[in-house]
Amino acid sequence: MASYILPESKLAWVVEENYKILRILKRLGIMPGFGDKSIKEVCISNKVSVNLFLLIANMSLYKEFSPDLESLKELPTIDLVNYLRRSHREFIINDIPNVENAIRDIAVNDDFANTHSSVFLDFFEEYKTELLSHFEYEDGSVFPYINGIIEGKIRSGYSIEKFEENHTNIESKIGDLKNILLKYFPSKNPHPELYDLVEKLYILQNEFEAHAYLEDKLLVPHVEYLERINGVVK
Ligand SMILES: [Fe+2]
Ligand SMILES: [Fe+2]
Repeated sequence: MASYILPESKLAWVVEENYKILRILKRLGIMPGFGDKSIKEVCISNKVSVNLFLLIANMSLYKEFSPDLESLKELPTIDLVNYLRRSHREFIINDIPNVENAIRDIAVNDDFANTHSSVFLDFFEEYKTELLSHFEYEDGSVFPYINGIIEGKIRSGYSIEKFEENHTNIESKIGDLKNILLKYFPSKNPHPELYDLVEKLYILQNEFEAHAYLEDKLLVPHVEYLERINGVVK
């Protein structure tokens, strides 16, 4: 069984065990220079909820980790929403353009399979549009709905259940992109750039999976709880 991150775990040790936590630290605004402090100590000095940190970190790093009911109730809603918003920003500003630029570079260099490169680029552009509208809907409609519940403004109409029913899978197309590149991309030489691109896609897929897991298994049950205690009529 995986050894989950605990309040008393030393943060430096956790980073050493799994560097993927660096992105989480960045999004939560946890400053470097934490010496030998435990997670709990670092969270307190950075004004981050220990409960929120443990849930986000464990759920992002361990796919089988599921939150218990009590910890779901105690979540600082605004901080969780801000974490998800920051993740969207990072995907839009850094990760998606990184992949897009790598595809463009291959398309420019790949004179042998020119048409294939441009078809591939078109496929990615379509996917990018889907991604942007997915993030825009959450930023512009779902998150404001959640803020509305906290502020006591929302009593009926929309519900987080409706969001969950229509919450599309954003990572599945990455599988198609990797497959095309690895199995079917007709290139004369196995370009190092091509493998670099596949690696970027793996990282993005991992990030998207962790992000969707937080939305489906942390945000949704937490908001269902908020709806119940605030008397939102579905
Ligand atoms: Fe999202
Ligand atoms: Fe989503």
